[in-house]
Amino acid sequence: MAILVLGGAGYIGSHTVDRLVNTGSDVVVVDNLSTGHQSAVSEGARFYEGDVRDQEFMETVFNDEAIDAVIHFAAFSIVPESMKTPLKYFDNNVGGLITLLEVMKKHNVDKLIFSSSAATYGEPTRVPIEEPDRQMPTNPYGESKLMMEKIMRWCDQAYGIKFVALRYFNVAGAKPDGSLGEDHHPETHLVPIILEVAAGKRDQLTIFGDDYDTDDGTCVRDYVHVEDLAMAHILAVSYLENGNPSRSFNLGSSTGFSNLQMLQAARKVTGQAIPMVMGPRRAGDPGTLVAASKEACEILNWQPEYDDVEKIIQTAWNWYQQHPNGYED
Ligand code: UFG
Repeated sequence: MAILVLGGAGYIGSHTVDRLVNTGSDVVVVDNLSTGHQSAVSEGARFYEGDVRDQEFMETVFNDEAIDAVIHFAAFSIVPESMKTPLKYFDNNVGGLITLLEVMKKHNVDKLIFSSSAATYGEPTRVPIEEPDRQMPTNPYGESKLMMEKIMRWCDQAYGIKFVALRYFNVAGAKPDGSLGEDHHPETHLVPIILEVAAGKRDQLTIFGDDYDTDDGTCVRDYVHVEDLAMAHILAVSYLENGNPSRSFNLGSSTGFSNLQMLQAARKVTGQAIPMVMGPRRAGDPGTLVAASKEACEILNWQPEYDDVEKIIQTAWNWYQQHPNGYED
């Protein structure tokens, strides 16, 4: 039986596919390559190019392959972009999930691991955030992921499709050997942008806002290494294979770092000055997002290896230095 990874050519997807293949799983990847890179997909996986919203295409994949479980990464995930183009997000993210669930139902596939997000919480009521806490997104991206969680809940009740929603906090880093990493066009995430400045590809970093209710006024985020995240998906598949009920888990490190602290850490790792200017707030950004990940550690037996942002940045820097133009190199 195979595990189907939707969006397996993307940043988190490709690291998860790599881990699955290396642990002996039979892996099928579907990706429309709108943001992913085919060369990021492990040669040990079977690759189908196509869109999760294309039901006919998805039917072919499910007919050709003996799929036992699905890991679903195929979604748009850029907060500022979602503020400008909300319909694009609801169409791809929510629409894609509905098609997927239709096809899973038809083919009696009842295990789904889903990339959810800290963005489903919006501005938290307390920090660190626990799974039952209020979910009130501040941007369409987070709203789309919350809608998807709700759709899966009803489909579990009606059709018995079991799911694990993994609510990621801020993902960063790369495979330590530098063979896989983050490659977005355009890049909007803090860590790769800082590294582009360190490498001289950009003139300076603009930090979006220093008037948040945090110690230094800049936003605080909880960084988790992409390899640790990949491992959590593998554990979540086992959790469902063992007959456990559907549920959500936070995946973070339980420690918050401000944007200024991240800049300082990157200056230390790279040895570069990394010029910075302070700019206005970016629309849709919550001030602080920090996870309580106790449940994932206790119930999934998740044991993140990276507990230090400098180590996370180091792996991203290692990837960047080997691939300054991403997968084009
Ligand atoms: N930031 C800057 N300058 C930049 C880029 C980012 O100051 O050039 C700031 C942002 O304003 C924010 C922080 O860096 O305060 C992190 O921003 P990112 O764009 O790296 O990440 P987000 O927190 O917006 O979102 C990421 C993922 C989402 C996920 C969220 C969960 O992209 O999918 O983390 O915390 F939902």
